Amino acid sequence: MRSRASLFVSLCAIAVCVRLGASDLTVTRTYVTVMGFSWANCGAPDAPAMMKSLEVSPDPITIPGDLSASASGYTKVELSSPLQVNLTVEKEVAGFWVKVPCVDDLGSCDYDDVCALLDQLIPPGQDCPEPLHTYALPCHCPFKAGQYTLPKSDFYLPNVDLPFWLTNGNYQVEAKIGSQGKEFGCLKVEFALHSA
Ligand SMILES: *[C@@H]1O[C@H](CO)[C@@H](O)[C@H](O)[C@H]1NC(C)=O
Repeated sequence: MRSRASLFVSLCAIAVCVRLGASDLTVTRTYVTVMGFSWANCGAPDAPAMMKSLEVSPDPITIPGDLSASASGYTKVELSSPLQVNLTVEKEVAGFWVKVPCVDDLGSCDYDDVCALLDQLIPPGQDCPEPLHTYALPCHCPFKAGQYTLPKSDFYLPNVDLPFWLTNGNYQVEAKIGSQGKEFGCLKVEFALHSA
């Protein structure tokens, strides 16, 4: 489902990571590698928001380092405030998936309105960050119904301090997006994290 919805989720997740980088619940590491990234839609088969493609390279991804990504998806409903995103982060521990709690806005957290979060991160009226600006992709609510495509784009991933619980291992992150009791879509990603 690389719909606007999930693009949203990613942007918010990154933003939250960056913000948390300043907190004292972090550990500085030299390099982090992310391996075996995979994704799937996890909502109803007829969910209004779906990711159609999502490609990330290289494998493994190194942080800090360069990342290439392309994505496309659609939403059949307008995504407007209040737009909820509920994240469930699970880590594999001794063969079991264990839910990571929400600590300091990171982990398995429910966000009541990502529209408001986006307005805080990117002042309305300002150009959207690249590569969104180049492809005329929006970064504020409301996101109109339609198809959204991000052609293959290069990103530099800067060194960020990770939260203390983000240790080596396999992770699953499920992001549900919805509003006022309705679920619009769900995206699940899996990856393995290793830091040195
Ligand atoms: C998110 O979780 C809240 C409860 O914390 C629930 O009321 C809401 O329906 C959930 N939204 C989605 C999109 O899953």
